Amino acid sequence: MRRKLAAGNWKMNGTTDTLREVKALTDAHPDPLVDMLLCPPATLLAQMAWARGTHALQIGGQDCHAAATGAHTGDIAADMLKDAGASHVIVGHSERRSEHGETDADVAAKAAAAHTAGLIAVICLGETLAQREAGEALAVVTAQLAGSVPAGATAANTVIAYEPVWAIGTGHVPTLDQIGEVHGTLRAALRDIMREAGGVRILYGGSVKGSNAAEIFSVPDVDGALVGGASLTAADFSPIVTALE
Ligand code: G3P
Repeated sequence: MRRKLAAGNWKMNGTTDTLREVKALTDAHPDPLVDMLLCPPATLLAQMAWARGTHALQIGGQDCHAAATGAHTGDIAADMLKDAGASHVIVGHSERRSEHGETDADVAAKAAAAHTAGLIAVICLGETLAQREAGEALAVVTAQLAGSVPAGATAANTVIAYEPVWAIGTGHVPTLDQIGEVHGTLRAALRDIMREAGGVRILYGGSVKGSNAAEIFSVPDVDGALVGGASLTAADFSPIVTALE
């Protein structure tokens, strides 16, 4: 039985005063029936860990370096995220892949570093619009999965997030059939990669809102969502958590 996961990626948004949203969210869901995860900018990690108090809200980084330590100005090691209160880290988000040239091999190395540090790696993948229109979506995500999931990945230390690039921040969402086709393909492909494939949670991400969450969550093999814009306020994120419960 896979426990559902409502995850929020704040991206490069949020300052100290934004943490009021954490209190509003945890107050709205004092005893959630699903896992809740927020991934703030690194500057807010430790403060968010403090702000959640004793609530089960989980906290994650948005990226980590593949190395454990060293001369990497501006980067953050997985162990540092853990030290700041994180239990998860997103790796391979399409914005990292496109803006920082991260390859599948880079993503696999970062996920492996996360595992070594004791973090759960949320490994993102997804096709571009051109790739979908060329009929390549399933081949692209299958290749990304094979290249981005490191040896040693288990159902306990790995979450997959399918985020079609063309759906991120656009308001365009794939049809439920398209989502189901990709998630089913990823589940099958995971079975070639690891023994515990049936237990790995596969999230959908891309323009998830309170108004479309329930229908997306009704799709088989959708175990939750990785939410961007609608995770920034409790008012927007709370209905998504409720739809998953
Ligand atoms: O990682 C979440 C994401 O890329 C989706 O963003 O704003 O479309 O929900 P958004």
